[in-house]
Amino acid sequence: MSAHNDGDRAEPESVDLSDPKLSRFEVYKEGLRRDDIEIIHYEPRFPKPGTKAEKRMERIVGGFFLLSGLFATAFVVAYIWWPWEYDGPATWRDPETWYTPVLGATLGLSLLLFAVGVLTWAKKLLPIEELVQDRHDGGSSPDDRRIAEATVDGLVEDMGLKRRPFLVKAALLGAAPLGLAAVAPLGALLKDPGDMLTVTGWNAERYNDGKPIRLMLKDGAMVRPDMVSVGGQITAFPAIDHGATNQFPTSPILLIHLRDEDAQILHGNLYPMYQDVDALWGNFVAYSKICTHVGCPTSLYEQQSQRLLCPCHQSQFNVVDNAAPVFGPATRHLPILPMTVDDEGFFIATSDFLVPPGPAFWNRPSLPEEDEK
Ligand code: FES
Repeated sequence: MSAHNDGDRAEPESVDLSDPKLSRFEVYKEGLRRDDIEIIHYEPRFPKPGTKAEKRMERIVGGFFLLSGLFATAFVVAYIWWPWEYDGPATWRDPETWYTPVLGATLGLSLLLFAVGVLTWAKKLLPIEELVQDRHDGGSSPDDRRIAEATVDGLVEDMGLKRRPFLVKAALLGAAPLGLAAVAPLGALLKDPGDMLTVTGWNAERYNDGKPIRLMLKDGAMVRPDMVSVGGQITAFPAIDHGATNQFPTSPILLIHLRDEDAQILHGNLYPMYQDVDALWGNFVAYSKICTHVGCPTSLYEQQSQRLLCPCHQSQFNVVDNAAPVFGPATRHLPILPMTVDDEGFFIATSDFLVPPGPAFWNRPSLPEEDEK
């Protein structure tokens, strides 16, 4: 198709669309005119199809699509087979250190290359076209529909989908693994998580041969009552192997030393399930630190308002009412970790959490309404 430059022309006459001699471009142009669109400039990139330059550009664009497919395939392979499981503190030499970067890099490169392929196709192979359009309202008449049809046909022709089978195949080969990369994470839903969401590092039978588990700071020091002043709080972990690491992501707790009056209020408000366990020791209470919305650490304790704040989406929990959510998107209270102090003066957990900490999950055990608000 030759170049058209209508920028200086007078308003063309209306065209009879039932004329079978009309070319596709004339119908397309008439459609634009009826929509108050003016063609300023229209010029095919390659007026003579099949030239060496065009083929070269096709190979470049196809190369982007194929490379995109290669990286998407690498993503799927890494997602399924790359060793990712936590095995104690890792260095840069351990493959699990690279699991997330490899997934991010392969998927990112795949998407980037596919986008570059599409953009290069549009920039280097589609006709150069400059249009000016006025906006208007209204439904579609039969003529408008015919015009739309011709426009879409013209687009297919301009893109050269029929005479560029290599590009179509390359785009499909690139897109197929990308589609697979999009659905691959769903495969994780097939894996049974077992009881990892309900059992935490505070389970003494599982992790400490049945012996009580002490509360430990991140540096390994055991927690004593005199380490937290009145109105203060401290983050603690189960004193077991790797207890303060991501191997036990739902175990961290916030040990709060309540003021006397606040402790009295909490005593009076305890949910039934907490009334016969060591929900408080003196004026100390230990709440799960993992927000029940989507799992951020809720570490901002505001003593005056008796609230715990999650910085991620501003959920607030009432410390003197079982850490019930009072503001924000969280809908469940932060579980209390039953605890006491052992003969040597260190805090110990007397059981695991009574309800699973952290965000909800589809098979989370339900509790009587009066037990969990
Ligand atoms: S994770 Fe805490 S409010 Fe969203």
